[in-house]
Amino acid sequence: MNISEVITGRRTIKKFKPEVVDNSIILEWLQRARYAPNHKMTEPWKILFIGEKTRAELKHKTNFGGASKVLAILSHKGRNQMERDENLSAVSCFIQNFMLQAWDEGIGTFWSSVGSSALGRRTLGVSDEFEVVGVLAIGYPEEIMAAKERASIEDKITYLD
Ligand SMILES: Cc1cc2nc3c(=O)[nH]c(=O)nc-3n(C[C@H](O)[C@H](O)[C@H](O)COP(=O)(O)O)c2cc1C
Repeated sequence: MNISEVITGRRTIKKFKPEVVDNSIILEWLQRARYAPNHKMTEPWKILFIGEKTRAELKHKTNFGGASKVLAILSHKGRNQMERDENLSAVSCFIQNFMLQAWDEGIGTFWSSVGSSALGRRTLGVSDEFEVVGVLAIGYPEEIMAAKERASIEDKITYLD
């Protein structure tokens, strides 16, 4: 796949096959995801590999669609609001880098907000210094939904003098 096929072809996957995704390939994607832009090189991401016990405690309504692996991606809050916002932006780029690489290799992901609730944070043992940007379910897709319509980009653009 070329980059435009990967970007436009990626879908959120809600149902996964039971086949296992190796940690070794996940580590490779994480290594490359580090090349996300990040202001002042704060490299604000932290990754939690979520095991079976913690996964059950998260009480996700579909158990992440039966995903093979589940990761939580955290962002350091930084020293002030601006750094916090920039770090969140950088971690979002990191996550997209990760998801696109997975998709390119036939593996789907599902970005869930389940980790940001009080229960989620407690279950994951996240300190006050970090935000949970996403919990990522990772696995071989069982079902790929049609693309969701996007608004025209022209409706989103303002051309300034
Ligand atoms: C910050 C963020 C949080 C999300 N949280 C959830 C979630 O909790 N549950 C969910 O079903 N999808 C969640 N999603 C996935 C979006 O629903 C999904 O990306 C959107 O519907 C577009 O579908 P697509 O990814 O297949 O293009 C989240 C996406 C982002 C970027």
